[in-house]
Amino acid sequence: MINVHVLNGPNLNLLGRREPQIYGSTTLADIEKLVRDKGEALGLAITFRQSNHEGHLVDWIQEAGAQGAGIVINAGAYTHTSIALRDAIAGSGAPTVEIHLSNVHAREGFRHRSLIAPVSVGVICGFGPTSYLLGLEAVHRVMVERARLPKPSQH
Ligand code: DQA
Repeated sequence: MINVHVLNGPNLNLLGRREPQIYGSTTLADIEKLVRDKGEALGLAITFRQSNHEGHLVDWIQEAGAQGAGIVINAGAYTHTSIALRDAIAGSGAPTVEIHLSNVHAREGFRHRSLIAPVSVGVICGFGPTSYLLGLEAVHRVMVERARLPKPSQH
């Protein structure tokens, strides 16, 4: 069974109350339910987590890599600052899709740069909670495709 870890960074625990004009009224618990329903429809095993602490996210990225899982990550503000998350993703070997609720490119300049995008398979932003579902579908397709490819030769 394909395993996908959906990881959420700082302040996403406040969704629903936090700047609703930007992030909407959907809570993280609502998003978790949408993700679990979509995961079930796609036949995926889902792990869904949130932390405000960078090191927790690093640990969870390493854990996903060790399990051969894929990652969908909304790293929140750490997207724009964290070399540690970037190195964790690169080192884990886990296919990773970066997502955001808001269209970060339509916002302040400091949100236009992502340190994790270069080590991710791709980026989805601007679709609200649907960004999570598109991210799940994207990582699923990448993992199915990779599983079909012949393994590199040992010689
Ligand atoms: C966010 C965008 C980030 O710039 C911001 O720091 C967040 C949320 C989003 O989902 O739109 O915390 O990742």
